[in-house]
This record gives sequence, C-alpha cells and structure tokens, in this order.
Amino acid sequence: MSTLNSVRMLEFNQKGDERGHLVIVEGAQDIPFEIKRIFYIYGSDKDVVRGQHANRESEFVLINVAGRSKVRVKDGKGNETLYFLDRPHTGIYLPKMIWKEMFDFSEDSVLLCVASTHYDPAEYIRDYDEFEKIVNI
Ligand code: TYD
Repeated sequence: MSTLNSVRMLEFNQKGDERGHLVIVEGAQDIPFEIKRIFYIYGSDKDVVRGQHANRESEFVLINVAGRSKVRVKDGKGNETLYFLDRPHTGIYLPKMIWKEMFDFSEDSVLLCVASTHYDPAEYIRDYDEFEKIVNI
C-alpha cells in the first residue's frame, strides 16, 4: 500500500462566536499522534519551495493558520498528490517516509507544523534519489 493513502486532510473543531474564531487541535485526538514539537514557517516568497525531504520517524500535521500554500506529496514510486492549505481549521496529515514539498506561499502565509518527534536532523532524508532507493527496496 502506498504511503500516499495515509495522507489526509483533517478538519478541526471551531468555536466561533461574536468575539472571533477559536480552533482546537488536541494531540492524539484531533491529530493521530502526541505532539512533541511545533514550528512555523512564514515570510517565504511565492517562488520558494520548502520541505523537499522525507522523515524516517516524524509524522507531521501542517496547518495554514493564515494565508495559503500548497503541499505536494510523493511516495517515491511514481505517485504524487497535490493538496491546498487555505483554511485555518484544516490541516494535512503527513505520515513518516513520505516526500513533501511546500510551495506557492501567499504573502500572508503562516504555516504551522506540528510534529510527533523532537528535532533530529539524522532522521531527515534530503536527497530524492536516496528516498526513492529506500522506498523501492
Ligand atoms: P528545514 O528542514 O530546511 O525547513 P523546511 O523543511 O521547512 O524547508 O529547516 C530549516 C533550518 O531549521 C535547518 O537549519 C534546520 C532547522 N530546524 C531546526 O533546528 N529544528 C526544527 O524543528 C526544524 C523543522 C528545522
């Protein structure tokens, strides 16, 4: 089964009232892992491509809490899917061992990334040829 089948959009609970919106993301409930780390990406130009890696261990949920971006995911076996992140109450779930590229950032894009692990550069695969080799063994 392709890892692409595990990628999915998530919809979070919204509690809006006359004071504004509140979106709730609970670890191991609204997303399928305990949260160990968050980071966020903003100020990326429209022509920038971020990510371009796969992770041996980490799972992620990406949420455009402001603005818009696109995420391309590849399984290394010739399959890819494109997702649009453009609503603060939706996110994309990315399993481990999937190639991901984030691009086409709007000027106001703030991309919140929630991870299942603490940062460890050793678990990143940043070379696509290497990724292809590993998933096709
Ligand atoms: P990078 O993985 O290239 O970002 P992206 O995948 O979003 O394009 O990370 C950019 C820099 O930040 C790089 O030097 C590693 C560092 N970094 C950390 O120190 N901790 C983290 O949790 C992350 C995600 C990155």
